[in-house]
Amino acid sequence: MAIYFDKQTKTFYLESKQSTYAFRVNEFGFLNHLYFGKKIARDDLCYSVHVQDRGQENFLPGCGRTHSLNQYYNECPTIGRSDYRESMIALCDARYSRVSELKYASHKVLSAKPEIDGMPSLRGGKTLAVTLKDEYNNSEVILYYTVYDELPVILRRAEIVNKGKQALKIDRAYSFCLDLDDNNWEALTLHGAWARERFIERTPLHHGIFTIDSKRCSSSGQLNPFMALCRPNADENSGEVIGFNLVYSGSYAIKAQVNQFEYLRVVGGINDYDFEWELKSGEKFSTPEAVMVYSDGGIGKMSRTFHDLYRTYLINPRYVDKPRPIVINNWEATYFNFDTKKLCDIIDSVKGTGIDTLVLDDGWFGERNNDKCGLGDWFINYNKLPDGLTPIIEHAHKNGMKFGLWFEPEMISENSDLYRAHPDWAIQVPGIKPCPGRDQLILDLTRDDVVNYVIKVVSDILDNNDIDYVKWDMNRTMTENYSEHLGKNNKEMHHRYILGLYKICEALVNGYPHIFFEGCASGGCRFDPAMLYYFPQIWTSDDTDAYMRTMIQYGTSIVYPLSAMSCHVSDCPNHQTHRTTPLASRADVAHLGATGYELDTTKFSDDFRVQVKEQVEAYKKMENLVLFGDLYRLGCSQNSNYFAEQIVSKDKTLSHITVMRALAYPNFTIYRLYPKGLDEKATYHVEELDLTLSGSTLMNVGFIVHFGGGDFITRTFTIKKV
Ligand code: DGJ
Repeated sequence: MAIYFDKQTKTFYLESKQSTYAFRVNEFGFLNHLYFGKKIARDDLCYSVHVQDRGQENFLPGCGRTHSLNQYYNECPTIGRSDYRESMIALCDARYSRVSELKYASHKVLSAKPEIDGMPSLRGGKTLAVTLKDEYNNSEVILYYTVYDELPVILRRAEIVNKGKQALKIDRAYSFCLDLDDNNWEALTLHGAWARERFIERTPLHHGIFTIDSKRCSSSGQLNPFMALCRPNADENSGEVIGFNLVYSGSYAIKAQVNQFEYLRVVGGINDYDFEWELKSGEKFSTPEAVMVYSDGGIGKMSRTFHDLYRTYLINPRYVDKPRPIVINNWEATYFNFDTKKLCDIIDSVKGTGIDTLVLDDGWFGERNNDKCGLGDWFINYNKLPDGLTPIIEHAHKNGMKFGLWFEPEMISENSDLYRAHPDWAIQVPGIKPCPGRDQLILDLTRDDVVNYVIKVVSDILDNNDIDYVKWDMNRTMTENYSEHLGKNNKEMHHRYILGLYKICEALVNGYPHIFFEGCASGGCRFDPAMLYYFPQIWTSDDTDAYMRTMIQYGTSIVYPLSAMSCHVSDCPNHQTHRTTPLASRADVAHLGATGYELDTTKFSDDFRVQVKEQVEAYKKMENLVLFGDLYRLGCSQNSNYFAEQIVSKDKTLSHITVMRALAYPNFTIYRLYPKGLDEKATYHVEELDLTLSGSTLMNVGFIVHFGGGDFITRTFTIKKV
């Protein structure tokens, strides 16, 4: 890996083994983007810069009629100086002037990647810091770029520093800008809703701005903070793709803008909707980190790069390589209706199956017998569990199982002791009735006293009970963005909330290193890299229907590794879709992630128990593939009757394929599967077909999958190098 600066041409080359990112300091001191793509030589790239007199443009003073910022590729565009495209940074000085020109001052290659104050970020790599000074408003912006040797990735972020004596107002603080020559790209995004998260959408770009964003103070299930640019001919296996992902859990925006000269600009970061930040003299403000991945091997290669990057440099190393707990979660088994005996019966009922962790979900605390009350009262409900959690925990441990507990630390019910004692701790505007969501309000995590209380009250439960696992839920997004103590700075609220949330996560995750944390937000409604930094896996969706899961998990895998997705086998008819799918299909699909169960196991027949035992054994055989393997998506049920995913070990000696046919049609065409990622020259044995073939034959001739009758039937294949 290299960060190289050519003093003569003032060009920076950020290189991985496969990619180059280049920009230069131009004759006026602006940082001029030159290239992001496949690795190239360190040639002088000035020849590739083009400006011309285009008429009806405005120019930098004293530069003739060609130097309009509107036609420069800029690493950090601002506003007010002839660039009419979206800016990366917008500042307002004490005169209320928003004119700003950020020019190169200095740079250094850092010996270690600095952490971001109060925000999660990736580890490792080599980092370049370029300091830009503003000509007019006494600010400095430090641009950080991180590059990794083995991965075609650039991380970017900015730090804004007020060097003047008077306060500055930040109107926009985005994390990155990438200017490209042409608009011959399509945008691929992941949209969704509760129980239908991360569906793939691909759309041509047009003149104007294509925006994805969240205004919910949560990265949200509506649009993941991810966008990829795909060449129109790019598909799963070939073509150029550039992926962008924000390491941020709050309100964000990513925009792709095509201007009148067909230039494409992509920018993204904290959403400036309802955002402003007062930066006092001497203070600095950090944007979240943005990840940019280049792929010359289609969407599939982009995904594998994201997966490797996040497994190696983002997810807590404490967990990332470890087998994941195989959970039985009581939520869909009992909802709020459980007692000590029921929970112990669940433990007894899974004995010998290989399920190794009981997670006690919502309803163990306060007066929480339904979802209208009790949030915030993190005290055991002794009416429901007269001897507390201890007998259940002891019963689990005695039976060789671990014990997990559900929390929703960010929330407060109006009907709770906490609210009665501290109504001002809930986010609302005095005199305006707040909009309830799931009959609950959000705690004001912009306040240190509230943050400290949450840490303390959750810690008390963790200190006094032998807990191995925490499921961290979050079930509503923000309205009435307001905190009395912020006064005139109320537009800082969303970002301050997220900083408060990270403080709590930091304290609890690091304070209890023996505890395994799972993230959740009404299923997968806050599935982002920042949450993954704290929680090595996230409940992918409340929708556990096997067929829907093929779409949800497929979409999620565009960015996030399989090991990050919690996937449970649940009951049928499914509680969300009312669909019935075969038990084997539910398990096969749940095995493409951190697997577990979520149904009333006390109703298991012996036959069912045997099947579950076999399923867990089968999962154990492929667990290392889920944790470390390369993913190849072979079929997408969002736009076809078939779903197929393949995982290949890094050394190409073992592979697993899961295929689902959604609907059975009589007398239908055959389905031929073409595995990928194998060693062409090696010989492999396909266990289920008892076929021994070369990698080249398997990948080019493929094999026919026979499903028999029935809907939502899955088939799995284990391919081993002989
Ligand atoms: C939403 C989660 O996604 C569910 O798994 C469950 O934990 C409920 N919340 C509990 O209220």
